[in-house]
Amino acid sequence: MELRPDEERILNGEEGESRRKAMELLVALGKVYGAEDLIGISSAHLSGASYKTIGDGGLKYLSDQVGGGAKVSVPATLNPVGMDLCRWKEMHISEEFAVKQLKIVELYGKMGVMTTCSCTPYTGANVPRFGEHVAWAESSALSFVNSFIGARTNREGGPGALAAAIVGKTANYGLHLDDMRAPSVVIDADIDGSVFSYSLLGQAVGSTIGGRIPYFRGLPVNTGVEEAKALSAAMAAAGSVAMWHAENVTPEAGRHDISDLEKISIGKKELEEAYEKLNTADDVQLIALGCPHLTEKEIREIASMLKGKKKKQGSPEIWFCTSAATREKCAEDVRILEEFGPVLADTCMVVAPIEGTFSRTGTNSAKAGNYLPTLCSQSVMCKDIAKLMEAVY
Ligand code: F3S
Repeated sequence: MELRPDEERILNGEEGESRRKAMELLVALGKVYGAEDLIGISSAHLSGASYKTIGDGGLKYLSDQVGGGAKVSVPATLNPVGMDLCRWKEMHISEEFAVKQLKIVELYGKMGVMTTCSCTPYTGANVPRFGEHVAWAESSALSFVNSFIGARTNREGGPGALAAAIVGKTANYGLHLDDMRAPSVVIDADIDGSVFSYSLLGQAVGSTIGGRIPYFRGLPVNTGVEEAKALSAAMAAAGSVAMWHAENVTPEAGRHDISDLEKISIGKKELEEAYEKLNTADDVQLIALGCPHLTEKEIREIASMLKGKKKKQGSPEIWFCTSAATREKCAEDVRILEEFGPVLADTCMVVAPIEGTFSRTGTNSAKAGNYLPTLCSQSVMCKDIAKLMEAVY
């Protein structure tokens, strides 16, 4: 791998131990993936922030980083953590968990990371522009920015994204390169256009094509942020899709010749199969919405659905998950939601330790539907929001 003199200096430890270690990791990753050089990034998004997922080992790793003087050199945001940083008691979180979780967030803050704790930073805190190189972890968010915005990132892991944020560069391979962003399969999609249908489509496509780059035909031209985030999240969880194109929707669709590519049709039958696979519970104790985090538009829509209704006694607990900034922006609608359950920031149903309290959870997200059984020991009801709410009012 070719390093420039300033990069060699970092690798030789001339800019401190923490930058040396970060550079060492980037060079090692670059060698594994055949990168020829490093490329500058404009932002990073970091995962590996919930105490539930990183445990004491992760806490020590972060403490060592801070002890070694690690500081990010580009704007960097943080993924959801295991609890709402203020309202964690409403989530049945133990004091012991809370103390360690707060420590993790404090350590990221000391490194200069914006502790926004959201998986949708592209709606406000961290919005890359078309063509920019970034280093993002969080499979749903990185697929969204690659595809819907046209920024460029590989599917980074937590330590790799942190190292890139510290150095301000990442290894130049994979989705940073024009040719590697070409679609490899055409999906002829037939969906009803609801956000939930994008989630089921993502489930069906991800489990069919694994990690390939699909080119969608037939998606509505008004596919927006909410639909794109549901599709990105589901395909990244059911498969390992890090980028997708959609005709008349995404900025890089049409750049590549698709005439010789394999064509797969995904319609009603495949969506029904995906639905059957995701649904393993007939009733639930918790309904958790906001995977990925709810946008302002989604909060408004849920508020108009709930306005004037009363929560039935004995109905499931409800969590609405969003970012702190979005919660603040929609205060009036949030008040309506709060009559049904807490509007939680900083966290989500998958990275919170819900398995200590619940065993059956309802969600409208295929991504959560994939992870709730494996990471949280839950049986799952996966339906659109209106259907989930039938159990509530
Ligand atoms: Fe976000 Fe948690 Fe889903 S991090 S994408 S809400 S699993």
